[in-house]
Amino acid sequence: MTTGQQPHSVDPLGRPLTDLRVSVTDRCNLRCGYCMPRELFGPDHAFLPRAELLTFEELERLVRVFAGLGVRKVRLTGGEPLLRRDLDQLVASLSAVPGIEDLALTTNGTLLPTHAASLAAAGLRRVTVSLDALDDATFRAVGDTPLPVTSVLEGIDAAQRVGLGVKVNTVVQRGVNDDQIEPLAGWARDAGVTLRFIEFMDVGTTNGWNRSRVVPATEVVDRLAARYPLEPVGPAVAGEVAERFRYRDGAGEVGVIASVTRPFCRTCVRARLSAIGELFTCLFAATGHDLRAVLRGGADDEELGAAVAGVWAGRRDRASELRTEQGLTGPRVEMSYIGG
Ligand code: GTP
Ligand code: 5AD
Ligand code: SF4
Ligand code: SF4
Repeated sequence: MTTGQQPHSVDPLGRPLTDLRVSVTDRCNLRCGYCMPRELFGPDHAFLPRAELLTFEELERLVRVFAGLGVRKVRLTGGEPLLRRDLDQLVASLSAVPGIEDLALTTNGTLLPTHAASLAAAGLRRVTVSLDALDDATFRAVGDTPLPVTSVLEGIDAAQRVGLGVKVNTVVQRGVNDDQIEPLAGWARDAGVTLRFIEFMDVGTTNGWNRSRVVPATEVVDRLAARYPLEPVGPAVAGEVAERFRYRDGAGEVGVIASVTRPFCRTCVRARLSAIGELFTCLFAATGHDLRAVLRGGADDEELGAAVAGVWAGRRDRASELRTEQGLTGPRVEMSYIGG
């Protein structure tokens, strides 16, 4: 290189490192059965001790290093990221990192009424809110929570009022919330939010995944198209996970994320960082690479960059392409630990 910059990282399957998903906590105020079943994430569960978490200064430094390797898009995740105190301060520092063109947040939405304004003021432009039902009983059952669905709807409203872009993610499980597909789509059209239906995945080993509970994205699209005529839209950016559709009547877009029936490993450009600084190269990996040890061991930015680049240079993950009818086998990190 003659520019003095580090070259962009590309893995052996030709996939560049352009997206980073950063988990800031493994805690959550909900207990969705497909993510943190209460039997396993109860009062005795050993969450990460606060003292172990990367500090905001460490996170900013790491994001600068990742930006130097080609990362342009950063998403803050959890658990529920809004449980991390003063998250707006992290947003402010990350939105100023040169090279980061898109900073987003994935949240369950319940804390947005309190935090939307300060997040927007800190430079956040958009949020992705998880919402699996419009019906109160289903919402409460899926999230194993006494909160009403209005707590999320009010969060979405608060985000929109301060000018944040809003997308909504719905994980569809047959026999659990598949009757919510049309109501959610109708609501999203009226609310002006882009809704994406996600196929239920065997992330982690505790969510009781079974293929019979997966509603294939094709089925979702057929059901939506029967009510609202649709036409496909090409990807906005390379490596996009959602397949996008436009409502022919002009009421915006809807999408599906077919991670089980049409895996997208071939274009997977995402790295994931746990709240204690482990770098995961796949959502279905068993273990991560300890960047915190490198960071706290006194490495300079160049050494840190070399450590990340070295991990990416060895990345051959394509778990979703290798999934059999029975699902994945072997140990896998939990969704709440790695943030989805
Ligand atoms: P936008 O930038 O708004 O388009 O977000 P996104 O497409 O990255 O979507 P988001 O972060 O909301 O991801 C949606 C969901 O898709 C995640 O929560 C996961 O459930 C799934 N997903 C995202 N990335 C991957 C991936 O690399 N592998 C698999 N298997 N699933 C993924
Ligand atoms: N399968 C599919 N999506 C999941 N999510 C959490 N667990 C799963 C799963 N097992 C989704 C959440 C949220 C995002 C972080 O990932 O609903 O939208
Ligand atoms: Fe919490 Fe999101 Fe997991 Fe539900 S899916 S338990 S809201 S982190
Ligand atoms: Fe990427 Fe792993 Fe998901 Fe495939 S299964 S798209 S490699 S995170």
